[in-house]
Amino acid sequence: MALDDLPKTLVTPPAIEPPEEPLPYFHALWKLLDNPIEAWPKAVYEEPFYERGDERQTFLYACDPAMLKDILLDKVEAFPKDWMFDRVTKPALGEGLLTAQGENWRWQRRAAAPGFRPDNVAAMTPLMVKAAEAALERWRDKGEGARLDVATETTAITFQVILDTMLSGGEGIDVEAAAGKITDYLQTLGKITPADLLQWPTWTRVALAPRGYRAMVFLKAMVDRMVARRRGEPARGDLVDLLMKAEDPESGRRMDDILLRDNLLTFIAAGHETTALALTWSLYLLGLDPGAAARVRREVAAVAGEASLTQEHIERLTFTRQVVQEAMRLYPSLPLMSRMCAQDVEAGGHRVKKGTFVFIPLYAIHRHRRLWRDPDAFDPDRFGPAESAGRHRFAYLPFGGGPRVCIGQAFALTEAVAILATLVRGATLEPDPGHRIRPVMRVSMRPQGGMPMTLRLR
Ligand code: HEM
Repeated sequence: MALDDLPKTLVTPPAIEPPEEPLPYFHALWKLLDNPIEAWPKAVYEEPFYERGDERQTFLYACDPAMLKDILLDKVEAFPKDWMFDRVTKPALGEGLLTAQGENWRWQRRAAAPGFRPDNVAAMTPLMVKAAEAALERWRDKGEGARLDVATETTAITFQVILDTMLSGGEGIDVEAAAGKITDYLQTLGKITPADLLQWPTWTRVALAPRGYRAMVFLKAMVDRMVARRRGEPARGDLVDLLMKAEDPESGRRMDDILLRDNLLTFIAAGHETTALALTWSLYLLGLDPGAAARVRREVAAVAGEASLTQEHIERLTFTRQVVQEAMRLYPSLPLMSRMCAQDVEAGGHRVKKGTFVFIPLYAIHRHRRLWRDPDAFDPDRFGPAESAGRHRFAYLPFGGGPRVCIGQAFALTEAVAILATLVRGATLEPDPGHRIRPVMRVSMRPQGGMPMTLRLR
């Protein structure tokens, strides 16, 4: 019997305990500010959809894949992004690709798409592997038994990757300062505040969060300086050049400096923390399940021996990829997407009223009792070809779906596999048994207090 065929015991990592019943009003309000996922009642994990509200406002949690397909794909025009999303993201990201709507979104998507074509992503893999190998070197310097905050470590790696791949090394960008400011923004303006619930003007939420405001000013000025410099320099063929040159074939429109800055900040923000979290949760889960970690190691050794990983190796690391997919199922980097219903419409056979706030609770969909066997268990084999074949495309949405699906999906998956494989072949990370794992939502889903783990060098 091959080692991989031995019966395995599934590991069940910590999960959010949903309340049996909807929380009373003020408790729910507090949860919305503290950690919204903890307010989702059990029904969200068990029913195809869950609707609540009064005559003023209806909230719909959509979990049924057929309903999600209508919302995100077939009837997408009826479900634009909502005002709450705008309030949280627009102060920093303006009218860039993540936040724009309608024709203003469409032409930017066409302009940016070539940068994410598979051949372009493949050309970037050496930079991803290099960043992971450099991190492993830093870990070796720290030595056997060192205590690492894996959330900070993976963020440093993916930040370097985004600078190297999209911004030709990000000359003039102070990596540490920028990463700190992004965290400052996410912890303040990057979450729902009382000003949002009371629907005060947007400037009030900014005025009430001076740390977040300062972070935003710092980041915008940093990117403005880079854009000004690059306008006067010869082209380098990176994403900055691509966006500078991009022209809408229909209107002839090009990006001015402000839109260019909004988009570069979008790629920096959307493109590194999300992947870092996928890696953080993957490393944590492998720490809990040494059998799965050993399988990753055996796979890397079989595919690449001792050599640095190449694109061709990465494509063959199927189990490692399944680990990343399973980590993003259990702990999706973005645990919630939201939309606003703009007209009375049917979705998945249910009538949705105009004005309904639509929540797409990825964390609950990915653990839904009707969609997954052993929903809370860590089992990368569920992403093997046999089990994946019968799965509805809209049951698993770590990158969203429909026309607004994540533009960086292929980039992120390649990056996560390359980095995970490189780190796991060189080190074992053991979870800290004294640290309570509590996933908290700050736009993205982070482990509260970081992810302390102990380093064992290989
Ligand atoms: C594991 C990593 C990642 C995850 C889990 C992730 C997740 C998502 C999700 C769920 C959306 C859809 C949001 C919505 O429809 O409301 C999205 C959109 C987006 N993502 Fe990602 N993302 C990741 C990596 C990246 C990377 C590496 C980049 C760029 C370098 C990126 C750039 C974007 C942009 C620009 C959008 C907006 C696309 C549009 O609306 O046309 N993401 N992402």
